[in-house]
Parts: sequence; structure tokens; C-alpha cells
Amino acid sequence: MKFPGSHILSIDQFERGDVERLFEVADRMRPYAHRQRITRVLEGAILGSMFFEPSTRTRISFGSAFNLLGGEVRETTGFETTAIAKGESLFDTARVLSGYSDVIAMRHPEEGSVREFAQGSRVPVINGGDGSNEHPTQALLDLYTIRSELMSRGRGLDGLRIAMVGDLRYGRTVHSLSRLLLLYQPVHVHLVAPPELRMPAEITEALRSAGHEVIETEALEQGIAGVDIVYSTRIQEERFASREEADLYRGRLRLNQSVYTANCEPNTVIMHPLPRDSRAGAQELDVDLNDNPNLAIFRQSDNGVLVRMALFALILDVADQVDTHARDVNWFTERRF
Ligand code: NCD
Repeated sequence: MKFPGSHILSIDQFERGDVERLFEVADRMRPYAHRQRITRVLEGAILGSMFFEPSTRTRISFGSAFNLLGGEVRETTGFETTAIAKGESLFDTARVLSGYSDVIAMRHPEEGSVREFAQGSRVPVINGGDGSNEHPTQALLDLYTIRSELMSRGRGLDGLRIAMVGDLRYGRTVHSLSRLLLLYQPVHVHLVAPPELRMPAEITEALRSAGHEVIETEALEQGIAGVDIVYSTRIQEERFASREEADLYRGRLRLNQSVYTANCEPNTVIMHPLPRDSRAGAQELDVDLNDNPNLAIFRQSDNGVLVRMALFALILDVADQVDTHARDVNWFTERRF
């Protein structure tokens, strides 16, 4: 893939070399993300951030990543504050807003909407999630996290064994992550979901055709045994016809410390794209795992900044200039990690 000027709409755009290039740039972003150095490489550049669905991590980490590279962020959240509420098309909105920005990050509840928007945009558009379809930057930060967690345990990605747990039907993060895994050597994938919330057959078939071993089960205990990574997900309540329907599945696949101890191998990494649903009936990842050193969920959300910085640097073609526009910080920066 040619990064400079490209839209990032689907994980299918990436080849393995692109992922490696992105991760290598992301590694170099660490001193900036950790506030040891400042770079102004994107000084004067503007990110248009358009989020038409709830978002905390994705929206803020896109914005922080752009700020950390020296650029500015213009935010739009919710349809009601835009002319889309007056009937303006995505194409026209894109045409207009791309006149005010150098790059746009967008989230929208409908599948395919970000692609439609990109057709009207005169600047690169990054998909921050389109309905239950895709969330490519999340998949990249997830794989970056898997790689660094395994490296810290003296392992590589080869022979990866991963369990994806929860709402695999509507969860766009697991859709994109599964597609990204197609680029790697045969991996072992356990898909743990109620029958109604299984991974779309098209993705399961693509995994099998790529030579991956795929095991589908409803049983959490069986699914999380013998894997390196447990990737838990939230029931995507907003995609169901009613809250009552979502309630049927909430809390069914609940990982807590005792289930972990009884079934997982020592050092199994626990991931989740977040938000985890911490309401009483849900708790897909119980708070009693908070002291478990293998709970990687906050390292994972931190990595979102590194990966999004790298993506901006590559799309705007400044990856090799970041360090030449840098200096040390002059404020107190000690952090507890
Ligand atoms: C996910 C999303 O929006 O798809 N969150 C995120 O971006 N980290 C997962 C979710 O909402 O459950």
C-alpha cells in the first residue's frame, strides 16, 4: 500500500509489509507519546474528527495522536450538531469539511458510510468504525498489543493462539482483527459466542481458507483453554432491536479471576477493545481481574495513540521528519505505568 494520501477504510488494504512499517514507526513514537520529547512535525495541520456514535478511546486517541505530532483538531460529535440533520448528504458534507482539514477521522453507525464519505472527500479519511462492519485502526493497535505482549514473554506472532469471546456477530473490532490475522502464518482461533452471535460465516471461511485452525464453541471454559490471548468483547447493545434482546446475552461469557485461574494457562494475556460493560448484569471482564498483571487492556488503549500517530505520520508523509522537528519537554513528566 502507498501510505501517503491514502484513505484507510478497511483492514484488507494492508499487506504484511505495511503492518510491519506501521509498527516500526509506532515504536519510534513512544518518547513522544510518553511526553519525554515533543515534536511539531504537523504544526499547522488540521485533523477533522467526526464521530457520529459514542466514542471515548478512539476519538480522544485520534485527537491526542494528532496533537502529539503538533497538529490541531476540529471536532464534530453527533448528527444533531451538523447539517446532516438538515438532509445534507455524506458526499456534500465530505466535500465541504475536507476543505477545512488535512485528514479526517470518522465514525458512523452505518456500514459502508465512511467509504461513501471518503468518495466526497478531498483529503484522506480514516475509518474509526462503520456500524458493525470494520474498525481497522483498532485491529492494528490490537495486533501491535498482541505482538508486544508476546515479545515481553519471549515469543513472536508465529503459532499465535487466540480466543475471541462475546458478540462476534456485531463486534466490528473482531471482524477487522480476524481479517488482519489472514496475513499471518497459520494461527489457532477459538471463536466463543452464543449461536446467535457467531462470527459471520464469510470471515470464518476466510480464516479457514488461509489455513488457520478455527474452533467455534459456546463454552467459555473450553474456548479460553490453551490460548495465548483471550480477546473479550462487549455485547453490542446498540445493534440489537431492543435492549431486552441484548440482555439475553449480557453476562453469559463472563471472565473473572477464578474462571481465569481454573482454565487459562499461566500468563495468558487478557485483552478487550473497551469499553467493558461494568454494569451488574454484564461484567464480561470482571473488575477482580484488575490486579492480574496479564490484564493488558490499558496497555492496549495506550497503544492506540502510538499506532494512530504512526498512521498519521505515514499518511501525511512525515514519518522520517518527526525527530528533526523535536525537542525535550520542560515540564514534569513522570508517569506511573
Ligand atoms: C469498540 C467499538 O467502538 O467498536 N470500541 C473501541 O473503539 N475501542 C468496541 C465496543 O464499542 O464495544
